[in-house]
Parts: sequence; structure tokens; C-alpha cells
Amino acid sequence: MLYRTALAALTALAASATMALAHGDVAPQAVDTTGLPVNGEEWLTENPYRAATAGEETWALAVKIGGSGFNQNCARCHGLGAVSGGLAPDLRFLEAEEYRDEWFAERFRDGYTQNGTTKMPAFGELLGQDAAWAIRTYIETRPDDDSMAEAAPALTVLRDQIHGYATDNAGADPDALIAQLNEIAGTITTYSGAPVADSVAFQAAKLIDGTAEGYTKAAEVLTIGLSAAH
Ligand code: HEC
Repeated sequence: MLYRTALAALTALAASATMALAHGDVAPQAVDTTGLPVNGEEWLTENPYRAATAGEETWALAVKIGGSGFNQNCARCHGLGAVSGGLAPDLRFLEAEEYRDEWFAERFRDGYTQNGTTKMPAFGELLGQDAAWAIRTYIETRPDDDSMAEAAPALTVLRDQIHGYATDNAGADPDALIAQLNEIAGTITTYSGAPVADSVAFQAAKLIDGTAEGYTKAAEVLTIGLSAAH
């Protein structure tokens, strides 16, 4: 079911990407940043939504909002989930440091034009900096493919177990499962050097609450992540 929805979303995205290329410019899609601290008019030079500065809750919200903002505005050139298909640079490798933040903000605001051709549209005016930093937070927390591949066998075992608990949770120990998932999440790194990757292990740990629904959702998230890792 989720597979089909994900597939439909991917197909729609691929179709819109083709259209975007055929038509050149596509209007930026507004990003709803409700709930994030507001940064005002003056552009900052450093991402204000990192967990170390803003706290884990704001960071997690920024990743979520940034993910949808990225996939609507950037993915058609920079790749779904920021995994570049070669059309534009792979943004996951931009270091999660201030000197890169400045560069990121500059490109985001002004876009890039070469010999009168717009290679990347400017987003600054239309989306503003709250959306920019949320997208930045999403990009820098993408997991490193290699560490994800290394974690895949252990995650597959856990996924099967969790999947089983969705129909029969006798003997399930949600706290132990969460601890195991978080332990694996801790081994999954980022290319940017950001301390925590928004990996499927990390996401699944947050979904487990002892209910059948929680197990179902966690197993689905793991399945999607594991299929991408292969
Ligand atoms: C129409 C295609 C297109 C879209 C849409 C697009 N970009 Fe780009 N972007 C590019 C290209 C092409 C480059 C490389 C430009 C160059 O040669 O420096 C680039 C470069 C960048 C860079 C500099 C990367 C580096 O390694 O130096 C950043 C940061 C960036 N884009 C962020 C974004 C973000 C964030 C979004 C969405 C809000 C976005 N881009 C949307 C095409 C696009």
C-alpha cells in the first residue's frame, strides 16, 4: 500500500521534473514554516536550526519541513532525497559548517545564471530564509549510503521482528526495540559531518509506541529505507 503511494509520488515527481525541464522556469512552491523560530529579514550566515543551537525539537521540525520544501523545489535538479542524479551537484556533501552555510544561502537567494541562462532559479525572495534553513537542515542530515548499507542486515532482522509484532505483539519489548534502533541509528553517519543522520532507523525508533499501528508504521519506514539502500 505504502509502496504504491510512494511509487505514485515518485512517478508524479518524475513527470513534473520532465515538465520542469521542458518548460525551463517553474515557480517556486511556498514552504509552510509554521512552528519554526522566525529569523526576520536580515539573512543569517549560519544555520539556526541545528540541534546544538535550537534544540532537538526544532531541529526535527526543520528536517520535516525542509524535506517537503526540498522535494518540491530542489529535487527536480538535485535529486529526490538530495541524492543527485548528475544534473546538479550532490548537496549532501556540503559540510555542515558556517562557511558552507554562507555559500548555501548565497546560492539559495541568488540562484545561478551562466551566459544569460538560468541554471538554478533564485529562491530567496519567494521562500525566505526560514524555508532556506529548514531545507539546509534536511540536506545536511541525509544519511551516508555506505553506513546505511552496513546497517542494512541488522535493520532487516529488526524490521522482520517489528513487522511480526504488528499482528501479534505478545512478547514484544518496545523499549528494547527502540534502544536497538537508536543504537543502529548511531552508526549511520552523514556526508556533511552533521552529528545525527535522519536515517530510517532513527525515524522508526520514534514511531514505536507499543501499539500495532506504531509497529506497522515503523516496519514500513524501515522497508522503504532498506529498499533504497540496495
Ligand atoms: C533548475 C535546476 C535547479 C533547481 C530547481 C535547484 N538547483 Fe541548485 N543548482 C543547480 C545547478 C545546475 C547548480 C550548479 C551551479 C554551478 O555550476 O555552480 C546548483 C548549485 C546549487 C548549490 C551549490 C552547490 C555546490 O556544491 O557548490 C546549492 C547550495 C544549491 N544549488 C541549492 C539548491 C536548493 C536548496 C534548491 C531548492 C530550493 C535548488 N538548489 C534548486 C540547479 C538547480
